[in-house]
Amino acid sequence: MLTKIKELKLQLEEFNVKNQTDLETFKTKFVYKKSEMGSLFDAFREIPNDQKKLVGQEINILKKEIEEKLILFEEFLQKSTTTESFEYDISLPSIPETLGSRHPITLIREKIISIFEKIGFNTSDGPEIEDDWHNFGALNFADNHPAREMQDTFFVNNQEKILLRTHTSSVQVRIFTDSKPPIRTLAPGRVFRNEAISARAHCVFHQVEGFFVDKNVSFADLKQTLLYFAQEMFGPETKVRFRPSYFPFTEPSAELDISCDMNNPKGCSLCGGSRNICKGSGWVEIGGAGMIDPEVLKNCGINPEEFTGFAFGVGIERITMLKYRIKDLRLFTENDVRFLKQFEDVF
Ligand code: PHE
Repeated sequence: MLTKIKELKLQLEEFNVKNQTDLETFKTKFVYKKSEMGSLFDAFREIPNDQKKLVGQEINILKKEIEEKLILFEEFLQKSTTTESFEYDISLPSIPETLGSRHPITLIREKIISIFEKIGFNTSDGPEIEDDWHNFGALNFADNHPAREMQDTFFVNNQEKILLRTHTSSVQVRIFTDSKPPIRTLAPGRVFRNEAISARAHCVFHQVEGFFVDKNVSFADLKQTLLYFAQEMFGPETKVRFRPSYFPFTEPSAELDISCDMNNPKGCSLCGGSRNICKGSGWVEIGGAGMIDPEVLKNCGINPEEFTGFAFGVGIERITMLKYRIKDLRLFTENDVRFLKQFEDVF
């Protein structure tokens, strides 16, 4: 019995605690009824009477020492709870920082800007909440003109006709009114229309407007500029097609198509394996364009006898969908990271 006491004494001396788990181990060994110390008491009852005095003394000393240590340990842990929470294993690998990625619409917008930067276009900005004059009036949409019907929007204030802009052409009016030609600028931004949401339409989307006003700007300049853009964006084989169209603020006006190479052995170049996008026609529309109507320049204080200009507007969603073969427009606004993280660094 005395050897067992000695052994426990030694273990007690060596025992130290760093945290609550250690304290619990300590109690299991020395304090609880079923601990080794507890069983020592049980064994004590069994020993012959003549040994009881000596052994009893030893047990009592050990018991005292255990109690002292217990108080010490508890005090220590109470004081060090704050530092304990900082204890960590420096050999563990760190939790990797996951980098975010830019939205595909952002990537394509920046790409468009960088393509036009190379031929001297800067960028301009305009408000998303517009008045009737900047969105419609100055652009030759007469009050009851049916062209307004195609661009129904959300009115912020019906009396004063304050609305969410339906196109970035409103920025033309702002820039023409505030500056003098030569003007060569891009206006990327968000636009709004009162449309039901589907795979191909949304009430919020993005356009890039581009316009160039100077002396002697011609339709040939417009064609060459957009051909350059299409080839930079979709590859050197790309062709452009201008289909006669109508916009109140351009004359003549055209719908801009880019070619989808039907002879591509892998299927049409834009559609991939399917013919879903060009529908077997070999052409896909990406925007509108035309020569700026002299009336628009006049409305903004620019003399149309002295200056001419062209303008175009392309849909960023449309170009992004073609570039990455995205089939559903709604993916852009769903914020699903599994979708969003696929697009960084493709250029
Ligand atoms: N603003 C027109 C639209 O949204 C596009 C366009 C821009 C057409 C510039 C001609 C010139 O439909």
